[in-house]
Amino acid sequence: MWKYIKKYKLLFFISLLALLLVDFSQLLIPRIIGQIYDTLGEEGSFRFFLISGLKIAGLGLSVFAFRFFWRIFLIRMSRKVERDIRENLFYRLLTFSQHFFGKWNTGDLMARAINDINHIQRMFSFGIVSIFDAVVMGLMTLGFMLSYDVKFTLIAVSPLSLLTFVVLYFEKRIHRLSLLVQNRFSRLSTFVQEDFSGNFVLKSLNREEEEKNRFASVSRDYLDKNVRLGRIQALLHASITFIIAISNVLVIYVGGKNVINGITSKGDLIAFLSYLNMMVWPMIAIGFAINIHQRGRASLERVEELTGYKPVITDPPNPFLPEKKPETLSVEVRDLTFSFGEGAPILENVSLSIAPGETVGLIGRIGSGKSTLVKLLSRLLKTGDDTIFFNGVDINRYKLNDLRALISYVPQEPFLFSTTIRENVAYYDTSLDDEAVMEALRKADLSGTIEEMPAGLDTSLGERGVNLSGGQKQRMTIARAILKDAPFFIFDDSFSSIDTDTEERILTSLAPLFENKSVLIIAHRISTLRYADRIVVLDEGRIVEEGTHQELLEARGAYYDIFNRQKLEEKLGRE
Ligand SMILES: Nc1ncnc2c1ncn2[C@@H]1O[C@H](COP(=O)(O)OP(=O)(O)OP(=O)(O)O)[C@@H](O)[C@H]1O
Ligand SMILES: [Mg+2]
Repeated sequence: MWKYIKKYKLLFFISLLALLLVDFSQLLIPRIIGQIYDTLGEEGSFRFFLISGLKIAGLGLSVFAFRFFWRIFLIRMSRKVERDIRENLFYRLLTFSQHFFGKWNTGDLMARAINDINHIQRMFSFGIVSIFDAVVMGLMTLGFMLSYDVKFTLIAVSPLSLLTFVVLYFEKRIHRLSLLVQNRFSRLSTFVQEDFSGNFVLKSLNREEEEKNRFASVSRDYLDKNVRLGRIQALLHASITFIIAISNVLVIYVGGKNVINGITSKGDLIAFLSYLNMMVWPMIAIGFAINIHQRGRASLERVEELTGYKPVITDPPNPFLPEKKPETLSVEVRDLTFSFGEGAPILENVSLSIAPGETVGLIGRIGSGKSTLVKLLSRLLKTGDDTIFFNGVDINRYKLNDLRALISYVPQEPFLFSTTIRENVAYYDTSLDDEAVMEALRKADLSGTIEEMPAGLDTSLGERGVNLSGGQKQRMTIARAILKDAPFFIFDDSFSSIDTDTEERILTSLAPLFENKSVLIIAHRISTLRYADRIVVLDEGRIVEEGTHQELLEARGAYYDIFNRQKLEEKLGRE
């Protein structure tokens, strides 16, 4: 914990000091009340009462002021710690790649980033106060009690030793249950996130009732774990209160006898009882401290589980630094074999090269490894050394930013942010002017559509661009890549939702841009590939054919089959 507080030492110690003053002022009050009690009915005691009253008022004021201070300082500190942890988590998540996001659910990550961090914040504010009060106020109260009577104090606090056992008994259970509660919350949040983002699927398959039931069961599970945690917490509080009650009984019994026998003054007994009851809060604070800390620590563990991950894809220690950003790029894949984890190879002995100014088409069946190849090219997936080279240099030797600056990549699944069209298209460089943005949209054959929109470039897109058609979304992401204008263009099946006429318009308008670019176009339709200088056919992770459209037709192999099948489908479609 200290590693998070360290940065805010000053705030931390000022608030502890304020806390100390609050506790100390509070503890002086019973002593004055005891004195008042003992002087009751004596001659000339009025002046004494008046002064005592003023003292109590002064102490009350100091409690008021310092309580205000510790709150603002400690809460400020805990909010800052919260921000640090959340930012650190976010920055960390930014460095992770598909290797990580493939395994983790968005809902779970959201739960950790929001709910768990709230528990951590509570640990750093009220958690600290409860520990402080439990320890410092507890000890100070004990000190005041001892100053009255040692034997008396021992009798009063002896039941409190039971507390050690109670605390030990509850601590572990609360920690374990807290982890479970947080884990169930993650499940709930994953469920909600998936059902809402997949609500089209859910509705079209009439799954509402089933999803209600499934949700009810996840939600019941969360409730159940929370109730169990609540039960244990209640038991802890109740046990503490019970132990205090035993102490009270003992003090009243022994103290009462002493007062009757004239050993102790009434005032002292009253003051002593006040102190004993002032022990209630530190005792309960132990309970709070345990709850808040166990929940907070459980949450911290969950957050640190994420921040503890090492990103798989990182900058190399001694990166290759090109003197200036290359204008053109020659791409070479050398005998690349790749598999996910221990699985069977997805790509096997793939060799491929693209020279500047060349457009290579890649075609292959569903699941043949096309997208995987492209992700390897942009280091979204990790590849071994000496398998992929850009301008003759192993891509693993580039800094990630330098490498990715070389690629204009249109991913297979168009992703749009819920901001304006302008911000989506000019995402790479928000300083670009409207003219440039419109030009890119024109090339992607979208300018007409945008002009028809009421707010033009300022039109807001819904989450993931829900208010656009599939083809519009694809063209939006094509425009984004055009605007980036890197030397290497990759289109991963980016024309699949675009009709052939529009596709032709787009590719024709891109021809001048592609003059000295290296271009890789992945497609299922042969029509998309007619602009390619060379076509590569991938099958089950292996390159089975390579050549121009004409050459491949003449070879009468896999490409020829695809060609005939598509021609037949087209003919059937027309009839
Ligand atoms: N993260 C992953 N973990 C494990 N296997 C994966 C992962 N991503 C893809 N695969 C597997 O790798 C194979 C190739 O997938 P890939 O996405 O490269 O195919 P593709 O050629 O792009 O297919 P499509 O034409 O449908 O886009 C598939 O069999 C798929 O199941
Ligand atoms: Mg794919």
